Formats: sequence, structure tokens, C-alpha cells
Amino acid sequence: MSANSQKVYVKNYGCQMNVYDGQKMADLLKPHGYTITETPEDADVAILNTCHIREKAEHKVFSDLGRLSVVKKNRKKVDKNNDMIIAVGGCVGQAEGEEITRQAPYVDMVFGPQSYHRLPEMLAQVEHKVKGKRRKVVDTQFPTVSKFDFLPSTDKTPVSAFISVQEGCDKFCHFCVVPYTRGAEYSRSVKEILQETKHLISLGAKEVTLLGQNVNGYHGEGLDGNEWSLGRLIYSLAELEGLRRIRYTTSHPLDMHDELYNAHRDVEQLMPFLHLPVQSGSDRILDAMNRKHKVVDYLKIIEKLRAARSDIAFSSDFIVGYPGETAKDHQDTLELIKEVGYAQAYSFKYSPRPGTPASILQTQVADDIKVTRLAELQHLVNEQQIAFNQSKVGQTLEVLFDREGKLPGQIIGKTAYMQSVTFDGDSSLFGNFLDVKIKHGFGNSLSGERI
Ligand code: SAH
Ligand code: SF4
Ligand code: F3S
Repeated sequence: MSANSQKVYVKNYGCQMNVYDGQKMADLLKPHGYTITETPEDADVAILNTCHIREKAEHKVFSDLGRLSVVKKNRKKVDKNNDMIIAVGGCVGQAEGEEITRQAPYVDMVFGPQSYHRLPEMLAQVEHKVKGKRRKVVDTQFPTVSKFDFLPSTDKTPVSAFISVQEGCDKFCHFCVVPYTRGAEYSRSVKEILQETKHLISLGAKEVTLLGQNVNGYHGEGLDGNEWSLGRLIYSLAELEGLRRIRYTTSHPLDMHDELYNAHRDVEQLMPFLHLPVQSGSDRILDAMNRKHKVVDYLKIIEKLRAARSDIAFSSDFIVGYPGETAKDHQDTLELIKEVGYAQAYSFKYSPRPGTPASILQTQVADDIKVTRLAELQHLVNEQQIAFNQSKVGQTLEVLFDREGKLPGQIIGKTAYMQSVTFDGDSSLFGNFLDVKIKHGFGNSLSGERI
């Protein structure tokens, strides 16, 4: 369509939704002649698709920006017309907007998760020099119509694909920036999701993970014009030929519903693994966090899921050192972990985020206490993770292979329970489901051999 031969580099930070968005950015730019490069040094346009969730995530963005500014400067030294465009998209873009161009004046463009569908126009605006000078573009408006209407379909997919079905959050947990960066809760229609999934299957996807910040709060327009729940959506996805595995993430305990429990019972393709973050095992802290449920409610959900699918495995997110968290609250979290028994878990030190209610509380926990509590929690989770992995030794599990391993002649795939399995084989096996006899269970993976 255009004589453009520019190269674009996209780096994703943060959650899986950013991976989905990053791919869509590439899909949007392709018809305008841009090709993707994996090396920032070669790029004419560098896009950082950022995450704002914790302070560390934000620091990473600014240190990467520093490195890019050097690339940009050096290039201009050689040829003053060869000016790289640096863009900050994603959740830091949304949260900080124009402030980024003040802190990092070499940044040409800032946008957020709800405005990236305008990327081609934004680039054209930046490239249009006025009196030899570039204009900066900052676009962090939340559109009145869904950005999904403007996203083109992709032309390649991994074997295990992501598809955003729900976005945004109205829950406002007191520690979290997501409701401010992703905006209000929105669900795509079932028709749109089925179309996109069919397309991904036709390109070779065997597994889809339905994404949303509160994915089980999904309530999109169904095929009959009524609102459908996530459970109902899963039943209809299960009818698509060629789709062997369905997953969804991330769920909120408050949005569990009967159709979803039933889907776990009835739908064979729905995998027996669920990431269901609880954050804390103390009712006092859950209340302070504005999570709106108690520990006992969470345990009931786990019980119902196990009744629906006896082999289901769980993972969670935990925050240690939330303002006001006492040693007893922390013990309660450890107790909850022991009671549930997790297959894996992510855990973080509480990080105060600008604009969130928890960040201005006077009861912040000292960092050394956070460090100790995090180590203690991670030790317990690691023990559970190893025990879970070792419980599979001797079993034959179905594995979907999709990646090269670290060693030559080795490939990696996933079990139904999200465990990585290493195996002797080559890339001709990618996209295949193989029955693998599990030989060893380690902290982060399994190894097995062909039967
Ligand atoms: N929507 C999901 C999670 C979104 S963010 C949910 O509701 O569970 C992913 C994880 O980051 C959260 O589950 C939480 O554990 C962690 N997190 C969010 N804000 C944080 C903060 N300010 N400090 C530390 N961890 C945080
Ligand atoms: Fe953040 Fe809470 Fe919304 Fe999850 S539910 S995205 S933790 S505000
Ligand atoms: Fe990060 Fe935004 Fe995802 S803050 S975790 S990239 S929703």
C-alpha cells in the first residue's frame, strides 16, 4: 500500500494482554509497509508497550528508554535525517501521558491501551515535520467506541494463542492501577470472539487463552442477543473443530458463576488449571484491599471447582506487606496456602502506586519485613510446586509442544496443568499433542520421554 520500508521494534512488558496488544500493533502497522524487527538498533520506530503495575515495572521502562535514547542520538550523529521514533504505549503511557515527554524529551509519542488502534495516524502525525521539526503526539483518550472494531486480523499465530475477550476493571482494589490504566470494564461480543478464534485455528492455533483483567466477569452480547457469561462462551468455543485446549485468565473470586463451574465439569477442552488470585489469607487485609470477599468464600470456590473437576490445579497472586499487614495476617496467608495447596503462584512485595488509596496510608510496612515475608511465602509455594510436579512422575501426560528448549535437540511443551515439560525432539513436533511419560519433577518443570 505504501512505499514504506521502515522497521518497527515492539517490546512488551507486564501481562499477557500486552502480548496480545503488541501483536495487534504489528498487525496494524503491517499494511502500512512496516516490518517487524527484533533488534532495537535496527528500528526506525521503537515502541515500548509498558506495564505500570509495580514501581519496578515502571523503572524498567525508563532504563530501557535511556538505552534507546543513546541509539537514537548515535544514529542522528551519522545522518541527521535518520531520526528514530521512540514511542511509549501501554499502561505507563496511559498513566503518565505527557509527563513522560517531560522526563524523557527524546520520546516522540505516548499512547495507552485504549488508543493504540490509532497508531498509524499517530505515526503519520509524528513524521509530518513542521519547519523541519517533529511534533510530539500524546494520545491517551479513552475512545467512545470499542478499539476492537478497528483492530485488523492477524496473519500468524503461536500454537497457543491469546485472545482478549474482556478488558478493563471496575473493582478498584485499593492497591491497583489497572482500573485507571485500562479503563472501565468492557466485554466483546461472542460473535467477534468466535470469528477471531476460528481464524486463529485456521492459522494453526491448538490452544486459546481467553484474556481479561476480570475475565470471569465477562458479559458480552451472545449469539441470541442476550448477555452471555464466560461459562456460556466457553461452551460455544468448545464446539469449534480443531480447538483442543481452552484456558482463561485472570479471574476474580467474586465473578465465579454456575455456568463456569459447570463448564469445568462438562467441557473436556477446558483445562484443569486455574489462576485465581486471592492476594491475602487475612480477612482484615482482604477488607482493607477492597477485595469484597472473605477467606472462607475463596475456600468454598476452590471446593466447588474441585467438585466439578477433581484434578484441577490452582495458582494465585499474593501481595506481602500490604499497609497494616501484621505478622498474624501474614501467618494467615501462609495457612491459606497450606490449606489450598498450589501448583504455582506469583508473589510480590506491596508497591505503592500513585493515585491509589493504599499508597497514602500511614501504615506502610518496612521493606526489610516485606523481604522476609516474601521469602517465607515463596519458600512455602516452592515446596508445594515441587511436590505437585513430583506427583506427576510415572504418569503419562498429554503435552502440547511449542518451543525450543535450552539445550540442542530439546523441545518444551505444556501439560494440561500448565507445567513445562522438556523432551528430546525437534521443531517438527511443534503443534503436536504427544503422550509423554514423566520421568522427573523439578521446581519449575518436568522432563519426560516418548512412549
Ligand atoms: N486482575 C487481576 C490481577 C491484575 S494485576 C486480579 O484481579 O487478580 C496482577 C497482580 O499484580 C495482582 O494480582 C496483584 O497480586 C499484583 N499487584 C497489583 N498491584 C500491586 C501493587 N501495587 N503492589 C504489588 N503487587 C501488585
Ligand atoms: Fe486490579 Fe483488583 Fe481490578 Fe484485579 S480486580 S485488575 S487487582 S483492581
Ligand atoms: Fe501491567 Fe497494565 Fe497488564 S499495568 S499487568 S500491563 S494491565
